[in-house]
Amino acid sequence: MNLKEIIREIPDYPVKGISFKDITTLLKDPSAFNEVVNQVHENFKNKGITKIVSLESRGFIVGGAAAYLLNAGFVPIRKKGKLPAETVAESYELEYGSDTIEIHKDALTEDDIVLIHDDLLATGGTALAALNLVEKMNVKKVYFSFICDLKFIENGKKEVLSNYETHTLVEY
Ligand code: PRP
Ligand code: MG
Repeated sequence: MNLKEIIREIPDYPVKGISFKDITTLLKDPSAFNEVVNQVHENFKNKGITKIVSLESRGFIVGGAAAYLLNAGFVPIRKKGKLPAETVAESYELEYGSDTIEIHKDALTEDDIVLIHDDLLATGGTALAALNLVEKMNVKKVYFSFICDLKFIENGKKEVLSNYETHTLVEY
């Protein structure tokens, strides 16, 4: 299945010069959605993943489904001010703009083997901020999973991320 053909590209959204990768066209297609979740499961089923950590909001969809298949727990990372209990926070640069994300302080333990999942790796700012949050909890091991990787964006953040085993489905 050619997932790249199913992901809609919207030129100049949300700002001029950005070609937005719209995964809603993939999510609404039952066999494409199935394929994506199954591939994440297939790739990580023997890694002993105990928690999937996903990023608000687009990371939650496949992250939640993959956690179910992997028999792992699900831990949300949310934008600042959304989580009700005690949190750890991290600020980061976006492909366009900047933001702060948070995780619950008691969400992970030293015994956890974590898969960080998001829909898209662009500048790597979000993923690196997520990694920093997860590493503050001294977890055992961290893996990454993305639906899309904008390979044409290369920078120091992505170099740091390349030290971690990563599964990506579609490259641009
Ligand atoms: C988008 C996308 C990734 C992130 C990737 O999320 O879903 O999470 O940007 O960009 P980066 O690698 O440059 O950090 P966004 O913050 O737009 O929010 P959303 O998922 O709630 O739409
Ligand atoms: Mg996102």
